[in-house]
Amino acid sequence: MKILIDRNKIEKRVKELGKEITADYKDKNPVFVGILKGAFIFLADLVRNVNLDVEFDFVVVSLYKGKKSPGMIILEREVLTDLSSRDVILVDEILDTGKTLDFLVNHIREKGAKSIKTCILLSKRKKREVSVKADYVGFEIEDKFVVGYGLDYNQRYRNLPFVGLMDEKD
Ligand code: IMP
Ligand code: MG
Repeated sequence: MKILIDRNKIEKRVKELGKEITADYKDKNPVFVGILKGAFIFLADLVRNVNLDVEFDFVVVSLYKGKKSPGMIILEREVLTDLSSRDVILVDEILDTGKTLDFLVNHIREKGAKSIKTCILLSKRKKREVSVKADYVGFEIEDKFVVGYGLDYNQRYRNLPFVGLMDEKD
């Protein structure tokens, strides 16, 4: 495993994002919606750097693997909070094709949210399949497979305190 972003760099950047969100949402009470499982560590660290009265909810999505519509997103767990007229911050760990985030932004918009912003730890530098706006981005990275800090490979490595690049031998 090669370290791409070490824990100090992550900590510093997450602090900055928390400060930015605190300033942008002054006197507001946003609802953070985390996308499970990948976002759990980033979200937990992020919100401890946010000095506001906030609420939380979580969604679980998966990628449909069947033959009929490959690449379709399935919502496995719905938001339970009433989001009508709320300021929502959607949190994911990584932006790749953009499909997941695009699906969820539209989904939350349909629920009548007053505003929706997206906060992503890692954004892959590549041509997106779906264009989606990332409002808060931790790091831009190359289009390579990464693990750690919530990100998995076959459900493993999520607990690594850094973002790492898989080697052939891992
Ligand atoms: P998108 O819908 O293609 O933008 O996919 C985003 C989701 O794909 C993320 O929430 C991750 O679960 C997964 N993903 C994309 N790239 C990586 C990676 O490099 N490592 C681990 N998971 C990834
Ligand atoms: Mg994910």
